[in-house]
Amino acid sequence: MKKKVISLLLTATMIAAMVTGCGGSADTPASTDSAADTTAEAPADTTADTTAEAPADTAADTADAAADAAGGDLADKKVGVCIYQFSDNFMTLFREELENYLVSQGFAQENITIVDGANDQATQTGQIDNFIADKVDVLIINPVNSSSAETITDKVVEAGIPLVYINREPDEAEEQRWEDNGWNVTYVGCDARQSGTFQGEMIVDLGLDTVDLNGDGVIQYIMVEGDPENVDAQYRTEFSVKALTDAGLEVECLSDQVGNWQQAEAQQIVANALGQYGEDVEVVFCNNDAMALGALQAIESAGRTVGTDIFLVGVDALSEALEDVIAGTMTGTVFNDHFSQSHSAADAAINFINGETNDYYIGCDYVKVTSDNAQEILDMVK
Ligand code: GAL
Repeated sequence: MKKKVISLLLTATMIAAMVTGCGGSADTPASTDSAADTTAEAPADTTADTTAEAPADTAADTADAAADAAGGDLADKKVGVCIYQFSDNFMTLFREELENYLVSQGFAQENITIVDGANDQATQTGQIDNFIADKVDVLIINPVNSSSAETITDKVVEAGIPLVYINREPDEAEEQRWEDNGWNVTYVGCDARQSGTFQGEMIVDLGLDTVDLNGDGVIQYIMVEGDPENVDAQYRTEFSVKALTDAGLEVECLSDQVGNWQQAEAQQIVANALGQYGEDVEVVFCNNDAMALGALQAIESAGRTVGTDIFLVGVDALSEALEDVIAGTMTGTVFNDHFSQSHSAADAAINFINGETNDYYIGCDYVKVTSDNAQEILDMVK
């Protein structure tokens, strides 16, 4: 009998842990230091740099040079692009910019094929098989599951097609394999630890007195996570909170749930959490802006006011989120530079086509966005 009670208690605890996920953190790989370094060097300058390198101009300036370098024959090359899910807001910005940039570099529109993996790895694997059968000259892949990268790499390398992974980073062992074997495979993306740190720093910068609305000396927060398999979600969750504790703040996680990067799911999660924890919720961290927009709907329906009795941060710098930051209805966001990432991915693909090599990891910096620079970022992304 006693045994049964204990096991029931254990089960209940496990279920609670699964639901809240509070306190869980992603395994921090050995390379965490590099993120800390990047973070330390990042924000203000990065904003200026990114702004200065306005996307369209860069594309125009380098178009002729790239076409020349390829012997002017990029127009004959076929590019296959696999996106994990077309309905994802951020990946929509990414793929549209990628397509425009590829065309500006000399590829023919009809030779660029972009397909929707519909968030299903089996579907995407079939699409990759089709691209291989079609003998594309290069593949750019945003995997549905990063854990499938090994299988994907093997079949693409076997077919002799160069491969550029984007946005969802394969693990360290997989990247090491590319290097060890000298394969024409690379990854282009930003280090999500930096975006998480920036989210946390925006809250820290408000000061304990402002954020600690109930005056108990502890920051009570709720976390809305993206896809749990995704390293961006894991790192943003971990490093946003770490920025608070690194600043000496005490934190309490009230709820930590998975919203799969989706606005509607986040709205529901935050509505429930606000219903359960009410005024105790001081900060809402969302792993991306789509979910922050959902959170904002829930916050407003609950009669709460961002900047007055609750604080809200996201990541991506979607136009709508930037407008909210300007209006004060979102505390801040982090610009996930889809211009830099899509251009770097296309440039890497062109290098491979031209018989050149690439680094095995091609990074980019995030930019912290508050009301101070939100208009500037909005002017750039619009
Ligand atoms: C993240 C982005 C999210 C979502 C995700 C997909 O970098 O912030 O909004 O697009 O990638 O993997």
